[in-house]
Amino acid sequence: MRIDVLTLFPEMFASPLGHGIIRRAQEQGLVEIVLTNIRDFAIGEYRKVDDKPYGGGPGMVMMPGPVFDCFEHVQSLCPQPGRVILLTPQGAPFKQAKATELSAQDRLILIAGRYEGFDERIRIGLGAEQISIGDYVLNGGELAAMVVIDAVVRLLPGALGDEDSAKDDSFSNGLLEYPHYTRPETYRGMKVPDILLSGDHGKIAQWRRDQSLERTRQHRPDLLDDRASLR
Ligand code: ADE
Repeated sequence: MRIDVLTLFPEMFASPLGHGIIRRAQEQGLVEIVLTNIRDFAIGEYRKVDDKPYGGGPGMVMMPGPVFDCFEHVQSLCPQPGRVILLTPQGAPFKQAKATELSAQDRLILIAGRYEGFDERIRIGLGAEQISIGDYVLNGGELAAMVVIDAVVRLLPGALGDEDSAKDDSFSNGLLEYPHYTRPETYRGMKVPDILLSGDHGKIAQWRRDQSLERTRQHRPDLLDDRASLR
């Protein structure tokens, strides 16, 4: 998979992409992540990338010119078509199902904005879909792009050491994950549940299913509604 990121702050990505599973996935050649600075495509003495909104109002809007030119440059480096995604709080909520869907693509082109948002012609002209990582406003789309990359790359076959570990993740079956314990058996007076020490794998699996369901009921009842509507 190739992931292009168009951003005004490519340096923000260095540390998150340079560690752990994402770093290993790049070293293994499972994913190539290419960062391109939108400002390199701005013109004029001040290399302006934003301007005041038509119709008035607060804040600044990302101009279409530098984004289109940056996009066309990136496409000239790699003509393979890909999913074009704008990171914006106006987008569809990012969920595990979307991460799974994107992990099956050969190419993603993520565009991170700053300021109040993008000139609407960027979305229209690039045929971009919009993704939001949650109902809050970040200072830009960079962190959201990193979230998307993180969630997608760990799903690429071979990215995780233990192939089973993505299967059991929270959300992969529509529920939150069950509680985990490791050694020691007792820590500060808190004991590992007896069932996990019993060696009875059938009972352990049942306990985990019950715990998943109970946690979901308590903390995310909306997920149970989503699951019911899928059936
Ligand atoms: N940019 C600013 N806020 C965002 C959000 N919640 N999701 C995606 N991109 C954003």
